[in-house]
Amino acid sequence: MPDSTVAPLLDVRGLVKTFPAPEGGRTRAVDGVSLSVPRGETYGLVGESGSGKSTLGRCVLRLTEPDAGTVLFDGRDVGALPPGSLRRLRARVQVVFQDPHGSLNRRQTVRDIVAAPLRAHGAGTAREREARVAELLDLVQLPAGVGGRRPRELSGGQAQRVAIARALALRPDFVVLDEAVSALDVSVRAQILNLLSGLQRELGLTYLFISHDLGIVRYMARRVGVMYRGRIVEEAPREVFFSAPRHPYTRLLLDAVPVADPARRRARASGAAPVTEAVAAGGCRFLPRCPVGAGRDLCATQDPPLQGAGSPPAFVACHYPGVNG
Ligand SMILES: Nc1ncnc2c1ncn2[C@@H]1O[C@H](COP(=O)(O)OP(=O)(O)OP(=O)(O)O)[C@@H](O)[C@H]1O
Ligand SMILES: [Mg+2]
Repeated sequence: MPDSTVAPLLDVRGLVKTFPAPEGGRTRAVDGVSLSVPRGETYGLVGESGSGKSTLGRCVLRLTEPDAGTVLFDGRDVGALPPGSLRRLRARVQVVFQDPHGSLNRRQTVRDIVAAPLRAHGAGTAREREARVAELLDLVQLPAGVGGRRPRELSGGQAQRVAIARALALRPDFVVLDEAVSALDVSVRAQILNLLSGLQRELGLTYLFISHDLGIVRYMARRVGVMYRGRIVEEAPREVFFSAPRHPYTRLLLDAVPVADPARRRARASGAAPVTEAVAAGGCRFLPRCPVGAGRDLCATQDPPLQGAGSPPAFVACHYPGVNG
């Protein structure tokens, strides 16, 4: 159980990020999100395509500037850091993306790819960097011989191990895993998840684990948050989240798994594409799809705030949490 007297490693408060929308105006990709992750734990972030998961991750990594809100890392406001400190802090927060091959430079050898962050941060001598690369390949359980290969000569699983080794090169304490296993075959996926769990224990890593796959999140995360159109609509400890979900959207997501047949799964995933209906004026953003709120005045006129209860707390943004539709 998280110790509430210890400051979380990551603390995001009221984060907002907007983009110009194709149809004019602005999309609120992240629309006032707060969350915190204690050191050594995994926070699982789920939600359908376009709900704002990656944008939130990019704001945490400072790959993109939020419009509003704060990101506290280890108690320090990342947005207010002078460039030198921001650079040092950047080394402590790393990312692994979905497409293992796409995220690796095709022309470089594995050794050069893994050494790149070390070179960029001027870490050690050439010989020390070489030793560190060997250590990193071993850490992600790749044979030393892989060091001389290029990305096209690697399997998907091997390429993702290289991406993980590169992310760990500067000894980060926080890693954003954005759909890091989504592109892999099921058997390889399990191996990479085991590797990530082992690395977390061994190195004391803290993860923000982004995925649209609830089965994987259940396996990896201590706390789970669901995003819907830029907001977290439910967040709870894993056991509570999966056994007693209270937001109608979370229930829809959970009803949707597991589906054994891959063809059916794909069909349904595409049915859950981004929503385009306008949010009811001032009302709940989930109302157009909600089986509970239809016809209820409160849902049509008031945006439900995210409210918490219990210890460790569970949060839900719904006027009728737990009510069956
Ligand atoms: N650079 C950008 N420019 C304009 N709009 C963007 C940009 N990045 C994201 N968006 C928009 O912000 C919203 C959230 O996108 P985001 O990629 O964060 O969603 P996601 O939850 O990660 O989706 P997925 O599961 O498909 O990865 C979407 O409407 C998207 O079109
Ligand atoms: Mg994404």
